[in-house]
Amino acid sequence: MRDAAPQTIYLKDYTPFGFTVEEVHLTFDLAPSATRVTSRIKFAPNPDATDKTFFLHGEELTLRWAKIDGETVEPTITAEGLTCNVPNIPFVWESEVQIDPAGNTALEGLYRSSGMYCTQCEAEGFRKITYYPDRPDVMSTFTVRINGPEPVLLSNGNPVASGKGWAEWHDPWPKPAYLFALVAGELIAHPGKFTTMNGRKVELNLYVRPGDEHKCAFGMQALKDSMVWDEKVYGREYDLDIFNIVAVDDFNMGAMENKGLNVFNSSAVLASPETSTDQNFERIEAIIAHEYFHNWTGNRITCRDWFQLCLKEGLTVYRDSQFTSDMRSAPVKRISDVIDLRGRQFTEDQGPLAHPVRPESFQEINNFYTATVYEKGAEVIGMLRTLVGADAYSKAVDLYFDRHDGQACTIEDWIQVFEDSTGRDLGQFKRWYSQAGTPHLKVTESYEGDTYTLTFAQHTPPSATTPDPKPQVIPVAMGLLAADGSEAMGTQVLEITKDTQSFSFPGQPARPVPSILRGFSAPVVLDHSADHAFLLAHDTDPFNRWESARALAKGSLMATIRQGKAPDSAYLEGLTKVVADDSLDPAYRALMIGLPAQSELAASLHAEGDVPDPDAIHLAVDAMREAQAEALQDMLHPLYDAHQVTQDYVPDAAQSGKRALGNAMLALITRRDGGAVAQAQYDTATNMTQQLAALGFLIGAEQGDAALGAFEAQWKDDRLVMDKWFGLQVMKAKPDDAADTATALTRHHDFNWKNPNRFRATLGALAMHHAGFHAKDGSGYALLADWLIKLDPVNPQTTARMCSAFQTWRRYDAIRQTLIKAQLERIASTPGLSRDTAEMIGRIRE
Ligand code: ARG
Ligand code: ZN
Repeated sequence: MRDAAPQTIYLKDYTPFGFTVEEVHLTFDLAPSATRVTSRIKFAPNPDATDKTFFLHGEELTLRWAKIDGETVEPTITAEGLTCNVPNIPFVWESEVQIDPAGNTALEGLYRSSGMYCTQCEAEGFRKITYYPDRPDVMSTFTVRINGPEPVLLSNGNPVASGKGWAEWHDPWPKPAYLFALVAGELIAHPGKFTTMNGRKVELNLYVRPGDEHKCAFGMQALKDSMVWDEKVYGREYDLDIFNIVAVDDFNMGAMENKGLNVFNSSAVLASPETSTDQNFERIEAIIAHEYFHNWTGNRITCRDWFQLCLKEGLTVYRDSQFTSDMRSAPVKRISDVIDLRGRQFTEDQGPLAHPVRPESFQEINNFYTATVYEKGAEVIGMLRTLVGADAYSKAVDLYFDRHDGQACTIEDWIQVFEDSTGRDLGQFKRWYSQAGTPHLKVTESYEGDTYTLTFAQHTPPSATTPDPKPQVIPVAMGLLAADGSEAMGTQVLEITKDTQSFSFPGQPARPVPSILRGFSAPVVLDHSADHAFLLAHDTDPFNRWESARALAKGSLMATIRQGKAPDSAYLEGLTKVVADDSLDPAYRALMIGLPAQSELAASLHAEGDVPDPDAIHLAVDAMREAQAEALQDMLHPLYDAHQVTQDYVPDAAQSGKRALGNAMLALITRRDGGAVAQAQYDTATNMTQQLAALGFLIGAEQGDAALGAFEAQWKDDRLVMDKWFGLQVMKAKPDDAADTATALTRHHDFNWKNPNRFRATLGALAMHHAGFHAKDGSGYALLADWLIKLDPVNPQTTARMCSAFQTWRRYDAIRQTLIKAQLERIASTPGLSRDTAEMIGRIRE
């Protein structure tokens, strides 16, 4: 439990630590409830610092003794750490603390998971391991000795020596404490080898629990692919003799880039065709790449303070998206990323949790591992690359690595390398880091003589952290199409810097059709009454072609919700042509059939001054799905048949695209045939993609319960597969049944609520079921609040993260607002609420 009156920390208050750390030696004597950690740390006064207070962070530690230069000292201890009088010359600090890994359910610091020891130190978990200046700008080399009976004892860096019951590791690369890791347990190594571009031989291992050995091959390959890619594309070579990945069942996030010892949520690394879907494979490949890429963007160059989090996360997300685009299909990746950005980041920007990519204050930094910092942070890098061009981007990034290797940096450092290497003034561009909110870009057109003119007006809605947004630099990739669909002008990038700005294109013999914001070149809301039907048929930019289908579908859905209009026939006709077009990638055609999320429709209704009715939205989407089934009816079975994969399963883009289109057809077929084809697919499926898709379609049909029972019987011993079983039932529940379904699942003997994956699978799925969560009787709100209150003392981080389900509450009607408000009050008034959850609820209630 933390302080009652939490402090707000401000970017503007940054000061360096009064001491530098020369080296760190740690000894762990492992015992589940009483691990001893002995530290020996060489400090020296920091000449660059004015504040010379010797404060070491430390939480939930029992100090047994402390010494300075061998003399026992008696530090002053508080709940946050200790202070002590120290000499103003270099000195050696030693201490021994006792900690309780088995009692650590928060999964931060050193904890136990499925019988092993593991750590999670980012952002501020190291202070639960020993007393230390736990801040990213304090970097040091670490030498770690682990004593314990476990057969596998791992830490960062290179192995130095080991014997029965002990192992020693040394990490030669100075690092902040948040990159420290330790793992110990009965683990099996899936080994691999890699030779770097300069001939360094690297030993690779993926460590898993016995029984998971068959789920390692894909992750190992993804790691090798990532290592090759970072050499080829960014010139970055690996820098240790060994690279280890460990799969852990209980983990708050996806994974963690600890130096040389990445720790992964098992769901983000373990994969096999029988247990993982195509989507799982793609996500795993991306996360392995992401964590590996952090070795340079995060570890070799880290952050000065946590306000700079986007420096490593935005850049690394951008890098992993480039990797996925290269490994798979660039347009499909771009479309998927934009769907995700709109679903999560735009939502954040539209509500009380809006914050800049680089926040200026926080209470609990763990609450800022957000879509804004990560995904919008990556969009900002993408815009920078678009503005300066690919070659200049590469040069600037090379300069960044040259200039800042080994340092803890800021966004200013990052921008400076671009200014220095390109000569551009990026002062205005920097607003992308300091202003919250999604810019709206209104487009008007005119055509006079043979000159075609586009006028852009930008406006960013004000938010709590950015009450007065200024114009931003918006790169708009666009092209012009002629009436016959040919390109009248290929893609150009317009740079919008002012509130209102016009661009003219002379020499147009006929009025062209513009295709604006190609590739989604900036994270903005485009307000343009474009000829979407024409663009859906003809646009040469695959993103905008998809976007046109989206816009038509959305317009149609909004008209159904507001005026009860029937689905738009122009949309259905255009869609039919694209879906039938065998020259297009099946994955892309599958994306075309997708509809905007119900929460996105609610957001748009709210933005346009209406009060969204979740039930009406649900019905409109259902009617649209029915209309799709009817419009596509002649091709459903032929396309389903044509996209069955007969070769051995491979999770690559080609095969998964076929399955995606086949299953998109099956979804619509099931609306017609009552589940016969889905049942056949379920019965014959030899991989999880096909099995799970069929199961999802069967839920709600007559065969649903039997299929769920069969699935459970088959997979009851596989946690990751059972997470799918828990989640899918909630996702596929009828709106009125969603809360009851979730409630019943929380009573299932296998509902281990302390496991974040299982908790999220069940209650996270409820929060994402728009009409179910917002059921009029408030049952969804009450159930989620019950569980958040229960989880908070056990795991504040996961609780706080899931509070964001309530962030959209002001969109809804007065009755729903009252119901949600009551739950927010109830959570807020829970005695001993964590700092994490208190901050989130406080911001949401504002
Ligand atoms: N740096 C990790 C990643 O992006 C995320 C760790 C976040 N952990 C946390 N407790 N907030 O890969
Ligand atoms: Zn990351």
